[in-house]
Amino acid sequence: MKHLLDTRELTREEAIDILDIADYMAQVKAENKKLSLLKDKLVVNLFFEDSTRTRLSFESAEKRLGADIMNFAAKGSSVSKGESLKDTAQTLAEYNADAFVIRHSADGAPYRLATAGWTNIPVLNAGDGTHAHPTQALLDAMSLRKFKAARDGVDSRGTDLAGLRVLIVGDILHSRVARSNLWLLRTLGAQVAFVAPPTLLPLDTHAWDAEIFHDFDEAIATAPDAVMMLRIQKERMNAAYFPSAEEYTELWGLTKDRFEALEEMGKPFAILHPGPMNRGLELCSEAADANESWVLRQVSNGVAVRMAVLYQLLCDGTAAKLYAENPGNLEL
Ligand code: CP
Repeated sequence: MKHLLDTRELTREEAIDILDIADYMAQVKAENKKLSLLKDKLVVNLFFEDSTRTRLSFESAEKRLGADIMNFAAKGSSVSKGESLKDTAQTLAEYNADAFVIRHSADGAPYRLATAGWTNIPVLNAGDGTHAHPTQALLDAMSLRKFKAARDGVDSRGTDLAGLRVLIVGDILHSRVARSNLWLLRTLGAQVAFVAPPTLLPLDTHAWDAEIFHDFDEAIATAPDAVMMLRIQKERMNAAYFPSAEEYTELWGLTKDRFEALEEMGKPFAILHPGPMNRGLELCSEAADANESWVLRQVSNGVAVRMAVLYQLLCDGTAAKLYAENPGNLEL
């Protein structure tokens, strides 16, 4: 792969290989080791939109792999003077960049950067508009795979998500996370169902390979293995998509009552949220802070996944190559 632009382009085998590399990188992180796989490589992080987790986890991943880093934030840059994406990218390429990590509010900006011929530098999409967020979907898949492996008492390496039922709940309309997860989770064999008010679903969901529910309680009654709550994206909303925050929480929030309904199923389940969370709106604190919550483990897995995709793109890395070379001398 030259670029990582969305999860739709990944085959099952490619996705499993990235997750296997990520499991290895998680061990490196857990043992607080650093590798020199990206020594002498310069990664440029281009953030045209705000971010905490994605920006810092890419930076952490790059440092843990020994890369040199340049951080570009649109705020405080010459973007305010009207400099275009093309001119910004070509300027930064002159510093001998080996990879661009880009977050942008415009759908398709990473594609444009990768394919317009402005530079020949690999591009990693760190989230574009409402379109795609491939590394978020990969870290979610890594978390779900770890949940499934722990539940079944097996090694996660080499496995997919077959048999897992995942509910994705909330603002699907504005969510790049929902789209990237649909493509990746289906590729890995999970069943996916969306739960949302009709106003927060795109018009083309009939063509999606997923069940659609408008009633959250009905969806919970299908005994999901995982519930992924999405953030209400107030910053992208230019209309009243639901009558009030109270009504949204009542109908589509993971409230204490719904959390208890999941517990009463009497089987293991996982709660995911990509963050940042609106506590009290899309989920209650009891659920966010429960043992079943993977929210902080998702953050940790985000570093490992970003190490994996950087290794894959910049070193032609595979899990087999990594095991053979065993940098960090891990117990495999
Ligand atoms: N999940 C996610 O993309 O979070 P940030 O916006 O903080 O990067």
